[in-house]
Amino acid sequence: MRLLLQTGSANAGEWRAAFAAALPEAEVTLWPEVPASVDYLAVWKPPAELFARVPAPKAIFNLGAGVDSLLRLPTLPASVPIVRLEDAGMAAQMIDYVTLAVLAAFREQAAYAQQQRAALWQPRPPLPRREFGVGVLGFGVLGRAVAAALLPFGFPLAGWSRTRRDVAGVDAFAGAGELPAFLARSRVLVCLLPSTPSTRGLLDRARLAALPRGAHLVNVARGDVVVEADLLAALDAGALAGATLDVFGDEPLPPAHPFWHHPRVTVTPHVSAVTLVDESVAQVAAGIRRLEQRLPIGGIVDRTRGY
Ligand SMILES: NC(=O)c1ccc[n+]([C@@H]2O[C@H](COP(=O)([O-])OP(=O)(O)OC[C@H]3O[C@@H](n4cnc5c(N)ncnc54)[C@H](OP(=O)(O)O)[C@@H]3O)[C@@H](O)[C@H]2O)c1
Repeated sequence: MRLLLQTGSANAGEWRAAFAAALPEAEVTLWPEVPASVDYLAVWKPPAELFARVPAPKAIFNLGAGVDSLLRLPTLPASVPIVRLEDAGMAAQMIDYVTLAVLAAFREQAAYAQQQRAALWQPRPPLPRREFGVGVLGFGVLGRAVAAALLPFGFPLAGWSRTRRDVAGVDAFAGAGELPAFLARSRVLVCLLPSTPSTRGLLDRARLAALPRGAHLVNVARGDVVVEADLLAALDAGALAGATLDVFGDEPLPPAHPFWHHPRVTVTPHVSAVTLVDESVAQVAAGIRRLEQRLPIGGIVDRTRGY
């Protein structure tokens, strides 16, 4: 069985060694070398040319959770199954990142940091925990893991998805009709939606205005789900208290972008949950083995939904 690997990263050799160890029955080739025939592709943000040279693999494994950049490629073969990573060590990282951001907002870290710079000893009244709703927009593999991890803190939790997802201790909202009610109770809004034709630009002026005054946005999904100009306007008008942003419409975030120096914006360079080699290779290798045995696998992308 032949596997063609394209990682677009400097550690391609590490990926190849991990695949060779996890799938000793496979012949692993590193793009841009292409063998005479290819059974499986494992790729991350591949160049369009790759599918011109490998038009009909049995399946394409995406070395990340989001498939937005892959689905945009005009050369992507139409009928080949696409399999994405599910968790593969990313949920634990998202839990760290989002918990840190939610607690920083709840404990008003930004305000205290500002007071410290002014040598100002000024206790603020604690925010009532029961009124500090946390809403997870996109209640999939990562969204549900984040909500479950936040349960012990006692914030009122809610999740929003296309189809209703019941998780103990979390209020479930579904579909466009329930979005306004979900937003209205989200003092912190955590975005974990995939970027698809129906989510791009979703967090615009009107949706941001539906959040409670003083709300905080945490975007760890994709930058294009948020209309950045509308977010800046809401921050500058004081409607939103802050934003923690790991993803942007244009990455790397251009040096002149106002987010970099905005006093109430925290910027990180798309690191909230990175792809981990060993965990990802183990998941892809298990998937390939199951496909070879004609068994069903998880993570198959629905191209019509876009995720
Ligand atoms: N910043 C980073 O480092 C990083 C790392 C990993 C992932 N991500 C991003 O996080 C995203 C989520 O990952 P995941 O593994 O949790 O994906 P997932 O399991 O596919 O979950 C996606 C969730 O979004 C919901 N959704 C999709 N379209 C919707 C719509 N139009 N209206 C309402 N809900 C909608 C889905 O609803 P249903 O439950 O009804 O299907 C599901 O609950 C990825 O797509 C990726 O872009 C970012």
